[in-house]
Amino acid sequence: MKLLFINGVNLNLTGMREKGVYGEQPLDLINAEIKTHFMGDTCDFYQSNSEGDICTAIQLAEGNYDGIVLNAGAYTHYSYAIRDAIAAVTVPVVEVHMSNVHAREEFRHKSVISEVCKGVICGFGKNSYILAGESFKLS
Ligand code: DQA
Repeated sequence: MKLLFINGVNLNLTGMREKGVYGEQPLDLINAEIKTHFMGDTCDFYQSNSEGDICTAIQLAEGNYDGIVLNAGAYTHYSYAIRDAIAAVTVPVVEVHMSNVHAREEFRHKSVISEVCKGVICGFGKNSYILAGESFKLS
């Protein structure tokens, strides 16, 4: 199975910002743990702070991956461009968040991408990525 893990805006600061919310581990260590967990599968990782680059990564995944695990960060809450990119491809996308966005500020309760995603996983810290990746193996 080929999985693409995409992290969006500010996720490069994981381990440095709001440690009580997102944990103390940097993104590259989280990605290394994911790779170990999915040994035997192909896992690729992409991070960008740019909305357009995330759209391009989703477009390029078409035909090349069995699934995308996407933490779009704050873009989740307002990016119609990312929503349209997800809707434009047939590769299934699972939306993830490390934090439980529903237990946080009101603006985080709304996702404009959930409707075009296969499912949503949030609130399990770095394990949200692993749970999302595992979901592709169940279908
Ligand atoms: C996040 C939640 C978003 O609301 C926030 O803007 C992030 C990270 C999460 O992983 O919990 O940057 O997607």
